[in-house]
Amino acid sequence: MRKPVIAGNWKLYKTAPEALELVSGLMPLISGRSNVEVVVAPVFTVIDRVRAAIAGSGIFLAAQDCFWEEEGAFTGEVSPKMLADVGCSHVIVGHSERRQFFAESDAAVNKKIRAAVGAGLTVIFCIGETLEERESGNTFNVLSGQVSGGLEGMVPADMEKVIVAYEPVWAIGTGRTASETQAQEAHAFIRSQVSKLFNAEVAQSVRILYGGSVKPENIGGLIAQPDIDGALVGGASLKPDSFAALVNAA
Ligand code: 13P
Repeated sequence: MRKPVIAGNWKLYKTAPEALELVSGLMPLISGRSNVEVVVAPVFTVIDRVRAAIAGSGIFLAAQDCFWEEEGAFTGEVSPKMLADVGCSHVIVGHSERRQFFAESDAAVNKKIRAAVGAGLTVIFCIGETLEERESGNTFNVLSGQVSGGLEGMVPADMEKVIVAYEPVWAIGTGRTASETQAQEAHAFIRSQVSKLFNAEVAQSVRILYGGSVKPENIGGLIAQPDIDGALVGGASLKPDSFAALVNAA
């Protein structure tokens, strides 16, 4: 009922030639996989080149962030409308690297999500606790605050355009994946929070992705969990073979 999603977050990697090499290597390896929503999120500067390269492949195009205003005197920002204009269907919002290094608050994340949904984009809304928060027993408090803060003011219909990504900060780029049990427990909790904020139907249909050191070797056990609907992938999305293996495992 929930179509799995495998999304590659390229972060600050790939020049244009490198990005084109990646997608041209990837496309033949995953062609015909219509039962998985495959998304790639390049840096802003190569979005248009990647769009042209993946046209007709069924791969969806995402940006890694957006601003909440449509236009104006906001030097350096990119609006959801502009992302849609250049062919993006998806946008990642609230990634922990943005929260950590660029001080993005739940309130800013909320404004971005609402603007992006308003522009017709599907948002990959990232949440996740730090190691300190987990070790002090605050995981569920943190997740609950991030979910309610990020989705404030939204109505059930908006949630058709939201995919949640649970990315425990301590598992990102560390090679230390959450165990299947830890991930499933967090996903079930997030789904229960979505049910409280909206309703059971929204909670049953929202896709919740796991992110944090996902690799071909561990995707099988994660995606087999009842509340894990796919993955948001960093490192393993940067090579055609490993990303294709994730898509083909989903
Ligand atoms: P890694 O897969 O490199 O751990 O990154 C996860 C992530 O942050 C995806 O958004």
